Amino acid sequence: MNLPPKAQTEEVICQCYQVNEATIRTAIEKDNLTEIDQVTESCEAGGGCHSCHILLQLFIDEHQQKTLTMEDLVNDHAQKVKKRGILSRFFKRIKPNPS
Ligand code: FES
Repeated sequence: MNLPPKAQTEEVICQCYQVNEATIRTAIEKDNLTEIDQVTESCEAGGGCHSCHILLQLFIDEHQQKTLTMEDLVNDHAQKVKKRGILSRFFKRIKPNPS
């Protein structure tokens, strides 16, 4: 599931290389990237501490329209996650809580 364009932000996702969300999503979509290493090669995001890898994987999975859960991502990348709050924020944006 791709986010609507207005939901894509200039928020910096990769703090190490100061790469924002729009740049990362554009790189993934333009070249149909499927691996975190490819994203790093394309726009440098993920090339430092790896803390942002979980979000890079989230953006890749969204582009590939995979069904995913926060638990799956955390299980795959738990050792790299320093701030889980940022991931929760993205999931709230993607899957608003029913009310
Ligand atoms: S925050 Fe992206 S590599 Fe460190």
